[in-house]
Amino acid sequence: MSNLIKNKDLVLNNGVEIPLIGLGTYQMRGYEVEKAVEVALEAGYRHFDTASIYGNEKEIGNTLRNLGVKREDIFITSKVWNDDQGFDNTMKAIDISLDKLQTDYVDLYLVHWPLPDKRKSTWEAMIDIYDGRKARSIGVSNYTSDHIEELMKYSSITPVVNQIEITPFLYQKDLVSNCESFDIKIEAYSPLLKGKKLDDPNIVKIGKKYNKSSAQVLIRWSLEKGFIVLPKSANADRIKENIDVFDFELNSEDMSLLDSLDSNIRISWDPSELD
Ligand SMILES: NC(=O)c1ccc[n+]([C@@H]2O[C@H](COP(=O)([O-])OP(=O)(O)OC[C@H]3O[C@@H](n4cnc5c(N)ncnc54)[C@H](OP(=O)(O)O)[C@@H]3O)[C@@H](O)[C@H]2O)c1
Repeated sequence: MSNLIKNKDLVLNNGVEIPLIGLGTYQMRGYEVEKAVEVALEAGYRHFDTASIYGNEKEIGNTLRNLGVKREDIFITSKVWNDDQGFDNTMKAIDISLDKLQTDYVDLYLVHWPLPDKRKSTWEAMIDIYDGRKARSIGVSNYTSDHIEELMKYSSITPVVNQIEITPFLYQKDLVSNCESFDIKIEAYSPLLKGKKLDDPNIVKIGKKYNKSSAQVLIRWSLEKGFIVLPKSANADRIKENIDVFDFELNSEDMSLLDSLDSNIRISWDPSELD
């Protein structure tokens, strides 16, 4: 078994290391997110993906503090929400997120969506945030190739990641190549299509072959592509299952079959409508 990907960190274009699998936390609040973070830490997760709009930064911060987790041992991502975009508001938004997370810095701060009138001034604030060490790295989310090209024309800093919806059913090859050409890593969100394709016969068949679940096959597809993956679960068994993916490797035939499922099935909003 050559090149078996381990549960290791990936190095971003600014030298910062990011754990390959992060716990998605969208739609988890209160006790549910506290418990999920605790279970995830026990299962080996060291990377947590949140956003101000998720309304759970406080609970995540509380849990990490109460468990006595060393700050340098974990990787926290948050995102500036659309209502907070623009230079001044973004500068305020990071402070509010840091206060809720009870930390001096996030490991990664993202522009959540590429708003037409505000993404440039928002990105200028992101650079200030990075320079001021309130974020160890900065990146974007939901950027199309056009948005990336536009940003690269005026930015002195290359985003470290583009967090996008990407699965075998929405394999945005051109966007991936475009990001790769700038050394921007892909973070795969909704990697399980929110559970909507777990009974797809091809995925089930591949899972049986490796004695793995459909969720594990989808997560492994992302890893084989070199993406960082952000599966969300509030269930202890499924949280553990989703990180138990480092003991098998999908062969090229199965990867080709998964690639062939590409059919523009999108679970989230389509950012190409944002000019
Ligand atoms: N940047 C953005 O705009 C953006 C947009 C969407 C998502 N995200 C990020 O990406 C993360 C993941 O995406 P997502 O939350 O949309 O969905 P997802 O991870 O694709 O799927 C989550 C759903 O799948 C279920 N599930 C999880 N593991 C499972 C397993 N092993 N077997 C069967 N079902 C399983 C979960 O239910 P249970 O909880 O009951 O297990 C939940 O209903 C988010 O939480 C967020 O952090 C970012």
